Amino acid sequence: MSENHPTTSHRQTLTAEFARAAAGFDRRTKGRFDDLGVLDFAGVGPGDAVLEVGAGTGNFLGLFAHAARLLVAVDLSPVMLGLARRSHPRLGLITGDGARLPLRSGSVELVTSAQTLHHVARPLEILKEMVRVMTPKGRLLIVDQVATERFEEAVVMNELEVVRDPSHAASRPPSALRTVVKAAGLDIADERIVEVDERFSEWMLAGEFPPKRIDAVQAFIGRWGDATGMDWRHDGREWRFTRRRMMLLAQRPGPS
Ligand SMILES: C[S@@+](CC[C@H](N)C(=O)[O-])C[C@H]1O[C@@H](n2cnc3c(N)ncnc32)[C@H](O)[C@@H]1O
Repeated sequence: MSENHPTTSHRQTLTAEFARAAAGFDRRTKGRFDDLGVLDFAGVGPGDAVLEVGAGTGNFLGLFAHAARLLVAVDLSPVMLGLARRSHPRLGLITGDGARLPLRSGSVELVTSAQTLHHVARPLEILKEMVRVMTPKGRLLIVDQVATERFEEAVVMNELEVVRDPSHAASRPPSALRTVVKAAGLDIADERIVEVDERFSEWMLAGEFPPKRIDAVQAFIGRWGDATGMDWRHDGREWRFTRRRMMLLAQRPGPS
């Protein structure tokens, strides 16, 4: 195992978790990116090739289906990609690790990753690999959930996320995402924070998650929810919270 790759145990946890949850995940997350204005934000053109690392069931990459020339989905989970094939027949599918892309250097105009970096303990390795395959004038687009800038809140939020999903690695504050993208050699061209009100029952869909885990997460929220920075509130029937996502667009330094 190279030190650039997820540890065997984390990789096993990830692939087992997404194999178990794939069908429920696909149902639960359909359409969750539809209102983000991703195509305009990324400035994608009809001649562009678009890559997504951690494409899963294709919910995000599918947004580019009528806007780009070529769509390439990379994911560790063959089960998730199997569902992507059904809903998005135009996607080229590659089962593999984002830290070792089987693609030529400088071959992709838009490299993306949505809701995946929080499953990765060391995202710099993946980002450097995404930058390697980017064309000289290419763009990187990251969409991921974020923690607050308060370190203590980020710690408790991540403890909660791990109880919910053992393949979770870290929700990072916006400043940490900026830092790691710059460390990969890019300048930030644009960024946006999007807030969505979410219900507990939609976040932990019955059927997708084991009942004991749902109970454990509810107990955690009851005890420490206020310390997560996620604005947990009880509306009488169930918990709700504010999901914050960052959209970040970056490019190589110099005139674009
Ligand atoms: C939460 S899902 C997101 C799927 C899709 N982007 C979406 O938002 O609907 C995260 C995906 O990242 C994949 N993944 C995690 N680490 C990866 C890695 N190092 N290389 C490739 N895929 C990875 C998982 O297998 C999973 O399918």
